[in-house]
Amino acid sequence: MSQRKTLQQILGIRFPVLVAPMFLISNASMVIEALNAGATAAIPALNFRTDAALREAVNEIRQKSQGPFGFNLIVNKSNPALKRQLETLCDLRVDYIITSLGSPAEVIKRCKPLGIKVFCDVVNLTYAQKVEALGADALIAVGSEAGGHCGPVSNNILLPQLVNHCHIPVIAAGGIGSSAQIAKWMEMGAAGVSVGTVFIASEEAPVSMAYKTALIDFSAKDIVLSSKLSGSPLTVINTEYVQKIGTKASLLEKLMKRNKWLKKYLKMIIFARGMKKITRSAFSATYQTVWVAGPSIDYVQSVRPLREIMHELVSDFQS
Ligand SMILES: Cc1cc2nc3c(=O)[nH]c(=O)nc-3n(C[C@H](O)[C@H](O)[C@H](O)COP(=O)(O)O)c2cc1C
Repeated sequence: MSQRKTLQQILGIRFPVLVAPMFLISNASMVIEALNAGATAAIPALNFRTDAALREAVNEIRQKSQGPFGFNLIVNKSNPALKRQLETLCDLRVDYIITSLGSPAEVIKRCKPLGIKVFCDVVNLTYAQKVEALGADALIAVGSEAGGHCGPVSNNILLPQLVNHCHIPVIAAGGIGSSAQIAKWMEMGAAGVSVGTVFIASEEAPVSMAYKTALIDFSAKDIVLSSKLSGSPLTVINTEYVQKIGTKASLLEKLMKRNKWLKKYLKMIIFARGMKKITRSAFSATYQTVWVAGPSIDYVQSVRPLREIMHELVSDFQS
């Protein structure tokens, strides 16, 4: 167990912090700032409409910083661009890929021979052991404290389970917003941490100021899990609009879900409608406000340059 590598050793970086991939939020500027601060960062491939835009971002990051960075791939059927995205990332020889919401088998098969590392989001031990057997380089333990599609189990339980029963490094994700917490997870055997929500309030994040300041104005008690937006429980701020539409599937939706075919189409419709609302809310004023964030908004007191947020997060660490 003690021989397991830390995130610093896996990637050759100064601090054990990964700025987590976030749909609509992560961009090249955030990655550049994270890398220049001695950490690492990843972007969902989904944040780029075209292959050319993704390649342009990689070029820009490589020109303006030197550290290792990665991309997130949604590896289930909801991502029709998966094959193309994987080819592009392999061609670009990115440092690592984070897989989420599905089997990483194909990604690992393609990436291993190229030396691209694969980190897999996991929410339970059974799945963690599966991806370890497939050849994953590290696990990302997504606890119930996380923003986005959180896991069902707290990392206080999940992380020690993974550390004790798996052999590859385990990165803790969820609810992290202070240097003391990073130290705590590392003491519990984590190789590093993956931090998302608190970086939404960075100056480099491309979303609206209203979204960023909502992280200051609301608190952890205002975070609710909604099944109305992506088909799976998603953490959102309990805005007036979220309160109005509720967080549970309607009776009609529940009835439709009993039928295999209707369920498939219903999921697609819910997903498309939800993503449209989330996208609109992220960039402009709308009465249908849906802001995705996790309970670690409690650590956000101002909108600051990413460098400053990172500096505070790693203040207990020496290189
Ligand atoms: C706004 C937002 C968008 C996210 N989008 C993605 C995504 O596209 N892909 C993914 O694998 N995880 C996504 N996540 C989860 C993060 O990668 C990470 O696991 C999570 O933010 C860690 O918890 P924290 O927010 O408490 O720091 C998202 C999280 C947030 C808050």
